[in-house]
Amino acid sequence: MDAIILGDGGFGRAIAQALIERGEPDPRILGRPAAGRHRPAVLAGADAVFDASRGDAVPSNVAAALAAGCKRLVIGTTAWDEARPAVEDAVRDHGAAAVVASNFSLGVALFGRLVDRAVELFGPLDAFDPYLVEWHRRTKADRPSGTARELSRRILAGHPRKRRISDATRDGGPEPDELDVAVLRAGASPGMHLVGFDAPGESVELRLTARDRSAYALGALAAADWLLRQPRAPGFHSFEEVVDDVLLGDRQPISIAS
Ligand SMILES: NC(=O)c1ccc[n+]([C@@H]2O[C@H](COP(=O)([O-])OP(=O)(O)OC[C@H]3O[C@@H](n4cnc5c(N)ncnc54)[C@H](OP(=O)(O)O)[C@@H]3O)[C@@H](O)[C@H]2O)c1
Repeated sequence: MDAIILGDGGFGRAIAQALIERGEPDPRILGRPAAGRHRPAVLAGADAVFDASRGDAVPSNVAAALAAGCKRLVIGTTAWDEARPAVEDAVRDHGAAAVVASNFSLGVALFGRLVDRAVELFGPLDAFDPYLVEWHRRTKADRPSGTARELSRRILAGHPRKRRISDATRDGGPEPDELDVAVLRAGASPGMHLVGFDAPGESVELRLTARDRSAYALGALAAADWLLRQPRAPGFHSFEEVVDDVLLGDRQPISIAS
């Protein structure tokens, strides 16, 4: 796979490392462009473009990749929700396909399904109050994390009493219809997410801890493999589609385990 990685931080470097470890040609890894945006000519010829940059850079990064003729994108960058409809239209209009996910770890994808099931089980029980805690390194740009926002969305979608996330700036406890989401920024943690259900006499917690960024990188590669394997419909695809293929034993195995 001839890959270009936009973003020279921890995630971008982890994707490069994963590509090299499985014997792919050395990927091109590009950081913030001095001119403010990448020149399409620099991005031409890639089988896949990975975006692992910053939320505010995604629209122009994707525009440059599309202008360069790239038809397969893997977008892992978070915090560009407002721009998402316009970026999705641009991808579709160019006949390109992108796998877009705030978290490319297979463990997180399955964790989301466990959370759905836990909400189904605990939601009808008034005694169990759900909560979410996430912890990332001190320098992480966005808060809450994209994964925490996705997990919150899933909890709110399935829970009979929770309607919104609590306002972290307000004194006092959350309202009964609010989901409390605690964000911790300290040290070097590559990512910890915990979903709990607390009752007067006991609590139940589901916790997922990333040890490093390798799981994210391997999932991003699996997404690129999935795009390359056969033509996909123009527009955005979720990592769930890739995971379903992995779990259901898509025609050819995807090397998602290290
Ligand atoms: N989907 C997933 O599984 C997953 C996993 C891990 C991280 N992430 C997300 O991926 C993104 C990157 O994570 P990270 O931990 O690597 O962050 P990071 O350490 O902050 O690295 C991001 C890098 O991208 C650079 N950059 C800024 N604009 C750019 C542009 N237009 N083109 C190329 N590079 C540009 C930044 O440079 P400057 O410092 O000069 O701005 C920085 O060096 C974040 O949004 C993070 O939340 C997603």
